[in-house]
Amino acid sequence: MEVVTTVALLRERLAGERGLALVPTMGNLHEGHLDLVRLAQSEGDRVVVSIFVNRLQFGPSEDFDRYPRTLEADLATLRALDVDFVFAPGERELYPVPQQYFVEPPAIASDLCGAFRPGHFRGVATVVLKLFNTVGPAIAVFGKKDYQQLFIIRSMVEQLNLPVRIVAGETRREPDGLAMSSRNQYLSPADRIRAAEFVRALTRVKQAIERGRRDYAELEAEARSFLDMKGFRVDYVALRKQTDLLPPTEGVKAVVVLGAAWLGTTRLIDNLEACVPPV
Ligand code: PAJ
Repeated sequence: MEVVTTVALLRERLAGERGLALVPTMGNLHEGHLDLVRLAQSEGDRVVVSIFVNRLQFGPSEDFDRYPRTLEADLATLRALDVDFVFAPGERELYPVPQQYFVEPPAIASDLCGAFRPGHFRGVATVVLKLFNTVGPAIAVFGKKDYQQLFIIRSMVEQLNLPVRIVAGETRREPDGLAMSSRNQYLSPADRIRAAEFVRALTRVKQAIERGRRDYAELEAEARSFLDMKGFRVDYVALRKQTDLLPPTEGVKAVVVLGAAWLGTTRLIDNLEACVPPV
Protein backbone atom coordinates (compact mmCIF):
# COMPACT_ATOMS: atom_id res chain seq x y z
CA MET A 1 0.00 0.00 0.00
CA GLU A 2 1.31 3.39 -0.94
CA VAL A 3 0.41 6.46 1.11
CA VAL A 4 0.55 9.68 -0.89
CA THR A 5 0.03 13.17 0.52
CA THR A 6 0.46 15.42 -2.51
CA VAL A 7 -1.59 15.91 -5.67
CA ALA A 8 1.54 15.92 -7.85
CA LEU A 9 2.88 12.63 -6.53
CA LEU A 10 -0.52 10.97 -6.68
CA ARG A 11 -0.90 11.97 -10.34
CA GLU A 12 2.56 10.58 -11.05
CA ARG A 13 1.83 7.27 -9.30
CA LEU A 14 -1.59 6.85 -10.91
CA ALA A 15 -0.50 7.82 -14.43
CA GLY A 16 -1.58 5.12 -16.86
CA GLU A 17 -3.78 3.34 -14.32
CA ARG A 18 -7.19 2.40 -15.66
CA GLY A 19 -10.06 0.89 -13.74
CA LEU A 20 -9.28 2.84 -10.58
CA ALA A 21 -11.93 2.73 -7.88
CA LEU A 22 -11.99 5.64 -5.43
CA VAL A 23 -13.50 5.57 -1.93
CA PRO A 24 -13.63 9.13 -0.55
CA THR A 25 -13.68 9.32 3.27
CA MET A 26 -12.94 11.67 6.12
CA GLY A 27 -11.11 8.89 7.96
CA ASN A 28 -11.78 7.45 11.41
CA LEU A 29 -12.70 4.34 9.50
CA HIS A 30 -15.33 1.88 10.70
CA GLU A 31 -16.83 -1.26 9.16
CA GLY A 32 -19.21 0.83 7.02
CA HIS A 33 -16.22 2.45 5.30
CA LEU A 34 -14.51 -0.93 5.00
CA ASP A 35 -17.55 -2.42 3.26
CA LEU A 36 -17.18 0.34 0.66
CA VAL A 37 -13.48 -0.51 0.27
CA ARG A 38 -14.35 -4.18 -0.29
CA LEU A 39 -17.01 -3.17 -2.81
CA ALA A 40 -14.43 -0.98 -4.57
CA GLN A 41 -12.04 -3.94 -4.68
CA SER A 42 -14.69 -6.11 -6.29
CA GLU A 43 -15.66 -3.45 -8.85
CA GLY A 44 -12.29 -1.90 -9.73
CA ASP A 45 -8.77 -3.04 -10.65
CA ARG A 46 -6.95 -0.89 -8.10
CA VAL A 47 -8.37 0.95 -5.12
CA VAL A 48 -7.62 4.47 -3.88
CA VAL A 49 -9.00 5.50 -0.50
CA SER A 50 -8.88 9.22 0.24
CA ILE A 51 -8.80 10.51 3.80
CA PHE A 52 -9.46 14.22 4.19
CA VAL A 53 -11.53 16.11 6.73
CA ASN A 54 -13.00 18.71 4.43
CA ARG A 55 -13.43 22.03 6.22
CA LEU A 56 -15.54 23.34 3.33
CA GLN A 57 -18.48 21.10 4.20
CA PHE A 58 -18.63 22.03 7.90
CA GLY A 59 -20.62 25.01 9.14
CA PRO A 60 -18.91 27.56 11.41
CA SER A 61 -20.48 26.09 14.57
CA GLU A 62 -20.15 22.45 13.52
CA ASP A 63 -17.71 19.75 14.66
CA PHE A 64 -14.76 20.33 12.28
CA ASP A 65 -12.31 20.82 15.17
CA ARG A 66 -13.41 17.82 17.19
CA TYR A 67 -13.97 15.50 14.22
CA PRO A 68 -11.98 12.34 15.09
CA ARG A 69 -8.66 12.12 13.25
CA THR A 70 -7.05 8.68 13.53
CA LEU A 71 -4.74 8.50 10.51
CA GLU A 72 -2.25 5.93 11.83
CA ALA A 73 -4.99 3.48 12.85
CA ASP A 74 -6.80 4.07 9.53
CA LEU A 75 -3.63 3.30 7.57
CA ALA A 76 -3.08 0.08 9.51
CA THR A 77 -6.67 -0.98 8.78
CA LEU A 78 -6.35 -0.21 5.07
CA ARG A 79 -3.00 -1.97 4.86
CA ALA A 80 -4.60 -5.10 6.33
CA LEU A 81 -7.29 -4.87 3.62
CA ASP A 82 -4.58 -4.66 0.97
CA VAL A 83 -5.69 -1.31 -0.42
CA ASP A 84 -3.41 -0.08 -3.22
CA PHE A 85 -3.23 3.67 -2.54
CA VAL A 86 -4.22 6.03 0.23
CA PHE A 87 -4.44 9.71 -0.59
CA ALA A 88 -4.18 11.68 2.66
CA PRO A 89 -3.47 15.31 1.77
CA GLY A 90 -3.04 18.04 4.34
CA GLU A 91 -5.42 20.97 4.20
CA ARG A 92 -2.96 23.24 2.39
CA GLU A 93 -2.38 20.59 -0.26
CA LEU A 94 -6.04 20.47 -1.31
CA TYR A 95 -6.71 24.14 -0.53
CA PRO A 96 -3.39 25.93 -1.21
CA VAL A 97 -5.37 29.12 -1.69
CA PRO A 98 -8.84 29.77 -0.28
CA GLN A 99 -11.26 27.90 -2.56
CA GLN A 100 -13.15 30.41 -4.70
CA TYR A 101 -14.55 28.11 -7.37
CA PHE A 102 -17.37 25.89 -6.13
CA VAL A 103 -19.79 23.31 -7.37
CA GLU A 104 -23.16 24.93 -6.69
CA PRO A 105 -25.66 22.10 -6.34
CA PRO A 106 -29.35 22.58 -7.21
CA ALA A 107 -32.29 23.28 -4.87
CA ILE A 108 -32.39 19.76 -3.42
CA ALA A 109 -29.12 20.60 -1.62
CA SER A 110 -31.00 23.15 0.51
CA ASP A 111 -33.66 20.64 1.53
CA LEU A 112 -33.52 17.82 4.15
CA CYS A 113 -30.00 17.96 5.70
CA GLY A 114 -29.16 20.97 3.56
CA ALA A 115 -31.91 22.99 5.26
CA PHE A 116 -30.09 22.55 8.57
CA ARG A 117 -26.53 22.66 7.21
CA PRO A 118 -26.38 25.57 4.76
CA GLY A 119 -23.55 25.18 2.25
CA HIS A 120 -22.82 21.61 3.34
CA PHE A 121 -23.49 19.94 0.00
CA ARG A 122 -21.71 22.68 -1.89
CA GLY A 123 -18.64 21.83 0.21
CA VAL A 124 -19.13 18.11 -0.39
CA ALA A 125 -19.67 18.44 -4.15
CA THR A 126 -16.67 20.76 -4.49
CA VAL A 127 -14.23 18.47 -2.67
CA VAL A 128 -15.56 15.37 -4.42
CA LEU A 129 -15.03 17.00 -7.82
CA LYS A 130 -11.49 17.96 -6.75
CA LEU A 131 -10.85 14.35 -5.68
CA PHE A 132 -12.24 13.03 -8.97
CA ASN A 133 -9.99 15.44 -10.88
CA THR A 134 -6.96 14.44 -8.82
CA VAL A 135 -7.45 10.66 -8.91
CA GLY A 136 -9.25 10.19 -12.24
CA PRO A 137 -11.20 7.14 -11.08
CA ALA A 138 -13.35 4.98 -13.38
CA ILE A 139 -15.52 4.13 -10.36
CA ALA A 140 -16.29 5.92 -7.11
CA VAL A 141 -18.05 4.29 -4.17
CA PHE A 142 -20.39 6.09 -1.76
CA GLY A 143 -22.59 4.83 1.07
CA LYS A 144 -26.38 4.94 1.14
CA LYS A 145 -26.02 6.02 4.77
CA ASP A 146 -25.62 9.55 3.36
CA TYR A 147 -28.51 9.17 0.93
CA GLN A 148 -28.82 12.82 0.00
CA GLN A 149 -25.07 13.09 -0.52
CA LEU A 150 -25.15 10.04 -2.79
CA PHE A 151 -28.02 11.57 -4.78
CA ILE A 152 -26.22 14.90 -5.17
CA ILE A 153 -22.97 13.25 -6.28
CA ARG A 154 -24.84 11.09 -8.78
CA SER A 155 -26.61 14.08 -10.29
CA MET A 156 -23.39 16.13 -10.36
CA VAL A 157 -21.70 13.30 -12.30
CA GLU A 158 -24.64 13.15 -14.70
CA GLN A 159 -25.03 16.87 -15.27
CA LEU A 160 -21.31 17.63 -15.53
CA ASN A 161 -20.62 14.55 -17.71
CA LEU A 162 -17.94 13.30 -15.35
CA PRO A 163 -16.39 10.06 -16.65
CA VAL A 164 -16.92 8.11 -13.45
CA ARG A 165 -19.42 5.43 -12.49
CA ILE A 166 -20.97 5.85 -9.05
CA VAL A 167 -21.48 2.67 -7.05
CA ALA A 168 -23.61 2.68 -3.88
CA GLY A 169 -22.90 0.60 -0.78
CA GLU A 170 -25.53 -0.50 1.77
CA THR A 171 -25.56 0.99 5.26
CA ARG A 172 -23.61 -1.01 7.82
CA ARG A 173 -25.25 -1.15 11.26
CA GLU A 174 -24.35 -2.00 14.85
CA PRO A 175 -26.09 -5.08 16.31
CA ASP A 176 -28.86 -2.86 17.78
CA GLY A 177 -29.51 -1.28 14.38
CA LEU A 178 -27.71 2.05 14.82
CA ALA A 179 -26.04 3.03 11.54
CA MET A 180 -22.27 3.11 11.99
CA SER A 181 -20.82 6.59 11.99
CA SER A 182 -17.64 8.29 13.13
CA ARG A 183 -19.88 10.63 15.10
CA ASN A 184 -21.39 7.83 17.24
CA GLN A 185 -18.38 8.04 19.55
CA TYR A 186 -19.51 11.51 20.67
CA LEU A 187 -22.54 9.84 22.33
CA SER A 188 -22.61 9.41 26.11
CA PRO A 189 -23.15 5.78 27.19
CA ALA A 190 -26.82 6.51 27.99
CA ASP A 191 -27.37 8.26 24.65
CA ARG A 192 -25.60 5.45 22.82
CA ILE A 193 -28.26 3.05 24.10
CA ARG A 194 -31.05 5.48 23.29
CA ALA A 195 -29.64 6.11 19.78
CA ALA A 196 -31.04 2.81 18.52
CA GLU A 197 -34.55 4.28 18.89
CA PHE A 198 -33.76 6.44 15.87
CA VAL A 199 -33.69 3.62 13.34
CA ARG A 200 -36.65 2.03 15.15
CA ALA A 201 -38.70 5.16 14.47
CA LEU A 202 -37.74 5.08 10.78
CA THR A 203 -38.46 1.34 10.65
CA ARG A 204 -41.98 1.91 11.94
CA VAL A 205 -42.62 4.41 9.13
CA LYS A 206 -41.22 1.99 6.56
CA GLN A 207 -43.38 -0.88 7.88
CA ALA A 208 -46.52 1.25 8.00
CA ILE A 209 -45.97 2.27 4.36
CA GLU A 210 -45.34 -1.30 3.29
CA ARG A 211 -48.58 -2.31 5.00
CA GLY A 212 -50.42 0.22 2.87
CA ARG A 213 -50.63 3.48 4.85
CA ARG A 214 -50.60 6.51 2.60
CA ASP A 215 -51.00 9.33 5.14
CA TYR A 216 -47.36 10.30 4.83
CA ALA A 217 -47.53 13.59 6.73
CA GLU A 218 -49.18 11.81 9.64
CA LEU A 219 -46.51 9.08 9.62
CA GLU A 220 -43.75 11.69 9.62
CA ALA A 221 -45.41 13.51 12.53
CA GLU A 222 -45.81 10.26 14.50
CA ALA A 223 -42.12 9.42 14.09
CA ARG A 224 -41.16 12.92 15.10
CA SER A 225 -43.25 12.88 18.29
CA PHE A 226 -41.99 9.38 19.17
CA LEU A 227 -38.42 10.68 18.89
CA ASP A 228 -39.26 13.87 20.83
CA MET A 229 -40.62 11.66 23.59
CA LYS A 230 -37.41 9.61 23.63
CA GLY A 231 -35.33 12.75 24.14
CA PHE A 232 -34.16 13.45 20.58
CA ARG A 233 -34.20 16.91 19.06
CA VAL A 234 -35.51 16.15 15.57
CA ASP A 235 -34.31 18.12 12.54
CA TYR A 236 -36.60 16.23 10.18
CA VAL A 237 -38.26 12.94 9.34
CA ALA A 238 -39.33 12.90 5.71
CA LEU A 239 -40.67 10.44 3.20
CA ARG A 240 -39.32 11.03 -0.30
CA LYS A 241 -39.09 9.41 -3.71
CA GLN A 242 -35.86 7.50 -4.26
CA THR A 243 -35.47 8.92 -7.75
CA ASP A 244 -35.35 12.66 -6.96
CA LEU A 245 -35.77 13.01 -3.17
CA LEU A 246 -38.95 15.04 -3.70
CA PRO A 247 -42.20 14.28 -1.85
CA PRO A 248 -43.98 11.17 -3.14
CA THR A 249 -46.53 11.55 -5.87
CA GLU A 250 -49.49 9.38 -6.86
CA GLY A 251 -48.44 5.90 -8.00
CA VAL A 252 -44.80 6.10 -6.92
CA LYS A 253 -43.37 2.84 -5.57
CA ALA A 254 -39.74 3.38 -4.57
CA VAL A 255 -39.54 5.70 -1.58
CA VAL A 256 -37.09 6.37 1.22
CA VAL A 257 -37.68 7.48 4.80
CA LEU A 258 -34.95 9.92 5.81
CA GLY A 259 -34.26 11.47 9.17
CA ALA A 260 -31.84 13.59 11.14
CA ALA A 261 -31.98 14.12 14.89
CA TRP A 262 -29.79 15.21 17.74
CA LEU A 263 -28.98 13.43 20.98
CA GLY A 264 -27.12 15.94 23.10
CA THR A 265 -24.43 17.41 20.84
CA THR A 266 -24.44 14.50 18.40
CA ARG A 267 -26.33 14.69 15.13
CA LEU A 268 -27.49 11.33 13.79
CA ILE A 269 -28.71 10.74 10.26
CA ASP A 270 -30.20 7.60 8.80
CA ASN A 271 -32.62 6.41 6.14
CA LEU A 272 -34.48 3.31 5.02
CA GLU A 273 -35.71 2.48 1.55
CA ALA A 274 -39.30 1.30 1.32
CA CYS A 275 -41.68 0.05 -1.30
CA VAL A 276 -45.23 1.41 -1.58
CA PRO A 277 -47.57 -1.54 -2.32
CA PRO A 278 -50.19 -1.25 -5.06
CA VAL A 279 -53.65 -0.14 -3.87
P1 PAJ B 1 -17.45 9.98 5.64
O1 PAJ B 1 -18.51 10.41 6.58
O2 PAJ B 1 -16.11 9.58 6.16
O3 PAJ B 1 -18.04 8.81 4.79
C1 PAJ B 1 -17.30 8.26 3.73
C2 PAJ B 1 -18.20 7.29 2.97
O4 PAJ B 1 -18.62 6.24 3.85
C3 PAJ B 1 -19.49 7.98 2.47
O5 PAJ B 1 -19.78 7.52 1.15
C4 PAJ B 1 -20.53 7.50 3.47
O6 PAJ B 1 -21.84 7.44 2.93
C5 PAJ B 1 -20.02 6.11 3.79
N1 PAJ B 1 -20.53 5.61 5.07
C6 PAJ B 1 -20.53 6.25 6.27
N2 PAJ B 1 -21.12 5.49 7.21
C7 PAJ B 1 -21.51 4.34 6.59
C8 PAJ B 1 -22.19 3.15 7.02
N3 PAJ B 1 -22.59 3.00 8.28
N4 PAJ B 1 -22.41 2.18 6.11
C9 PAJ B 1 -22.01 2.34 4.82
N5 PAJ B 1 -21.37 3.43 4.35
C10 PAJ B 1 -21.13 4.42 5.23
O7 PAJ B 1 -19.20 11.21 3.55
C11 PAJ B 1 -18.11 11.72 3.76
O8 PAJ B 1 -17.16 11.17 4.58
C12 PAJ B 1 -17.70 13.03 3.11
O9 PAJ B 1 -18.82 13.84 2.93
C13 PAJ B 1 -16.94 12.85 1.77
C14 PAJ B 1 -17.82 12.16 0.72
C15 PAJ B 1 -15.65 12.04 1.99
C16 PAJ B 1 -16.54 14.24 1.21
O10 PAJ B 1 -15.77 14.94 2.11
